[in-house]
Amino acid sequence: MSKKPIRLLCFESSCDDTSVALLEAQPGDDVPRIVEFSVQSQDDVHEKYGGIVPELASRAHLKNLLPCIRKVLSKSKLSFSEIDCFAATSKPGLVGSLLIGQTAAKTLAFIHQKAFVACDHLEGHLGSVFLQHQVQFPFLSIIASGGHSSLYLVKGFDEFEKIGVTIDDAAGEAFDKGAKLLGLGFPGGPELEKLARDGSASTYSFPAVNVPGFDFSFSGIKSELVRLVNREADALNRADAAAGYQHCILNHLFSKITKALDHYAVSRLSLVGGVARNQELRSRIKNLQTQEKLTEFYVPSPELCTDNAAMIGVQAYRKFIRGELSDLTTDVSSTSRPAVKRKSNG
Ligand code: KG4
Ligand code: ZN
Repeated sequence: MSKKPIRLLCFESSCDDTSVALLEAQPGDDVPRIVEFSVQSQDDVHEKYGGIVPELASRAHLKNLLPCIRKVLSKSKLSFSEIDCFAATSKPGLVGSLLIGQTAAKTLAFIHQKAFVACDHLEGHLGSVFLQHQVQFPFLSIIASGGHSSLYLVKGFDEFEKIGVTIDDAAGEAFDKGAKLLGLGFPGGPELEKLARDGSASTYSFPAVNVPGFDFSFSGIKSELVRLVNREADALNRADAAAGYQHCILNHLFSKITKALDHYAVSRLSLVGGVARNQELRSRIKNLQTQEKLTEFYVPSPELCTDNAAMIGVQAYRKFIRGELSDLTTDVSSTSRPAVKRKSNG
């Protein structure tokens, strides 16, 4: 008897990347596999403003989504009628941007009489490691992205316990703001990392951050960079400033990681979100492995660290097989609180 695969077409449009992914699983699989996926960045739209302009982001999603869908479907040689589930990120994110992806998924589900599943962007990032790693539970997971920095204890495919969160800026936001102060392009993380390679982290001192528990704080590091830039003015060595600033951000992330590994007595770690692309951070964590403080390090390949629809597909599949389908009246939400179900008038 042939087993029919389960196919999911997933959309991610919570911020400034438009992404579509087609995933497939055999009944009984824990996690689906990526068949095709496409990401259209909006960096050229937002670069001149030095940050994301929400209204322009929504308009760019409108323009980019259909070509991304067509590309994924034509590469996979599948039609809408062969999809079992349409899914989209519904929270947290920019409301106008979320609405584009979610409305597309709901519309396709409605027209083709298929399932619709609303997903959480952060759980998407957490699940991104399942696409490329055979994980063992429990493990510690750190999300370090442009909008979020949090630590989780992951106990199962669907069991994420939040143990720490940023009390102000996110790590990626600190990279972006620092890059802007140093006159670099957008997004700032990769640019700042590149400049830091030419500098020395010991020229300028950045005070260590002191926040209790497993929480993070990055705004003080940014304020220190503002003071440094103003104090040094034209004498500032930008590469040294970038190196010192990056070192301080990574020290803070790193100190919380090691503290949590000790506290929860786990030796497996995953690193997800855009900042996980940072080579310095990856190699510092890999060093922990060399020192035998870590037995496993799960980190997605660079294109799956930043926002993408494939990670949404993992969660959509897990919900789909549990029968946790979403209503077509599900709303979007800028925060991680549960998406609200609107009372239907009809
Ligand atoms: O996960 P993501 O695509 O979006 C959010 O969910 O926020 O992460 C984007 C963030 C940006 O802040 C970007 O500057 C940062 O990830 N980023 C980096 C690097 N590549 C991207 N930060 C540090 N080093 C990098 N190489
Ligand atoms: Zn993200």
